[in-house]
Amino acid sequence: MISVTLNGEPLELDLDPDTPLLWVLRDHLGLTGTKYGCGEGQCGACIVQLDGEPVNACQTPLSAAANHSVKTIEGLSPDGRHPLQLAWIVEEVAQCGYCQSGQLMTADALLAKYPRPTDAQIDAAMSEVLCRCGSYNRIRRAIHRTAN
Ligand code: FES
Repeated sequence: MISVTLNGEPLELDLDPDTPLLWVLRDHLGLTGTKYGCGEGQCGACIVQLDGEPVNACQTPLSAAANHSVKTIEGLSPDGRHPLQLAWIVEEVAQCGYCQSGQLMTADALLAKYPRPTDAQIDAAMSEVLCRCGSYNRIRRAIHRTAN
């Protein structure tokens, strides 16, 4: 059994410890907000937080989460009205939307570390998540809006 705290709830998982966290979340727990993009640690669509740090869930084995805390997009807010999510709506950030779960989890971790991030801090953090629609300027505005 592997013990994980997932979105604030303790969980016991009887799974292969080598299973990527992405598939634990999506296939075994039905938390499909975390997306599969490249599966190679390149795109960031699968980013979740492990003890508050953004990690690529496709490259993180379940064993790495043992006795640690995982937060997914489903845990960001119970009703989808986290300040970041509201700012995302106001700034009309999402286009196709596929990468936005990874974007939001990365932005949330950024704001926990830097409550008033500079453009450079935003760009450095958010460069970990690729957006083929080019929503980067809107993401930056939404993060500043949340920080203010
Ligand atoms: Fe994990 Fe692309 S799916 S980084």
